[in-house]
Amino acid sequence: MTPTEQARQSAAREHAFSMRLEDIDPATPDYFEQGTVDHYFERLRRDDPVHYAENPLVGGYWSVTRFKDIMQMETHHRIFSSDWRQGGITLTDEPEDEHKLQMFIAMDTPQHDVQRKAVSPIVSPGNLANMQDLIRERTCRVLDSLPRGETFDWVDKVSIELTTLMLATLFDFPLEDRRLLTHWSNVATSNQAVDPRAPSPEERRAELQNMLAYFTRLWNERVNAPPAHDLVSMLAHNPETRNMGPREYMGNLVLLIVGGNDTTRNSMTGGLLALSENPAEWDKLRANPGLVENMVSEIIRWQTPLAYMRRTALQDVELGGKTIRKGDKLAMWYLSGNRDEDAIANAGRFLIDRPQARQHLSFGFGIHRCVGNRLAELQLRILWEEILKRFPTIEVMGEPVRVRSTFVHGYTALPVRIPA
Ligand code: HEM
Repeated sequence: MTPTEQARQSAAREHAFSMRLEDIDPATPDYFEQGTVDHYFERLRRDDPVHYAENPLVGGYWSVTRFKDIMQMETHHRIFSSDWRQGGITLTDEPEDEHKLQMFIAMDTPQHDVQRKAVSPIVSPGNLANMQDLIRERTCRVLDSLPRGETFDWVDKVSIELTTLMLATLFDFPLEDRRLLTHWSNVATSNQAVDPRAPSPEERRAELQNMLAYFTRLWNERVNAPPAHDLVSMLAHNPETRNMGPREYMGNLVLLIVGGNDTTRNSMTGGLLALSENPAEWDKLRANPGLVENMVSEIIRWQTPLAYMRRTALQDVELGGKTIRKGDKLAMWYLSGNRDEDAIANAGRFLIDRPQARQHLSFGFGIHRCVGNRLAELQLRILWEEILKRFPTIEVMGEPVRVRSTFVHGYTALPVRIPA
């Protein structure tokens, strides 16, 4: 960490611990862009773990910051709804046709369950085993093409490239157009209210329509062909999903594109950053490459690529000593729960040999627990196995550029150099 960065973190910490409790609002884009939000969460876990704030963009909402309270919500999905008609899984309450797409992550039982079942086979253990060789081959190709002895952007050349290739494979999407998937993922998660550089609502709508048109062509090709193992074919042939309307189809595409894209991508970048900030852990890894699998879980906890999921209370309920009213919205801050010392020993440290490393909140829990978790772990494991075979070290050459979002917790750039 550079002295400037250290000074910024100390100032943020002092601010977080000296400000009036009622003024703390973790859904502040600046905190995420500057990488300082952890201090505010630490204060809330200590002083007000279920905390109400009025946010200028999203209005009143509860922040749930402790591991056990988040688990309480995740396991009571009949009280805490994900349904898009209630407001869905992000804090914004945009008009219905805006950000609230109809996808099964934003549906409650029973509609959620049938659609989830329709796409789950793509990530079955058997299918993952079949995909291993392809993932390894693509990972090797990308790593072997990296420049030596010069600075390049890890996010673009590795994290985006690998996750996009993988996604194109899952959809059997034309490889030459694969960066369209990256683009649509960025557009789908963008929000001009949070980041003025983001596309306008009209541009966003137009881009998502382009995506729908492209995927509708793929659908039409595949619905008339024999069933295959790609996601579009699976959706087109499954009786539960083959009659979806265009908005629902679009919603589920966005879910799979974003689900498989930003999250794994940001773990690929976050892992490198964490190792570079913790050289003793990198030494441990070099001495014992068998730690890769455990490290992957630790990277996913440490990064927490999705900072929160929103729920809406369907009835009055007590949570962490507070009364939540029917209709209230709540953010389950995974990023905070994953740093909760009451649930995870030494939660504030990045430890690649941590016991029970899979016990984190980054994939959520309960009926919505991430469908793609094993696939994400597989991609990251192969990436690190192949890095270890090739590069004794990768030097981080400057500060990362962070995404200005309170939902996607990640990076837009990270300058690195592989020694010649
Ligand atoms: C759901 C995180 C990778 C597809 C979720 C949820 C989280 C999450 C937090 C919501 C859980 C909840 O509400 O309890 C992550 C992280 C990943 C990752 C951190 C990578 C490190 C992937 C991949 C795919 C994927 C690679 C697709 C191939 C999905 C889907 C859902 C989901 C479809 C909705 C599940 C449901 O509502 O039942 N993910 N994800 N994710 N994820 Fe992931």
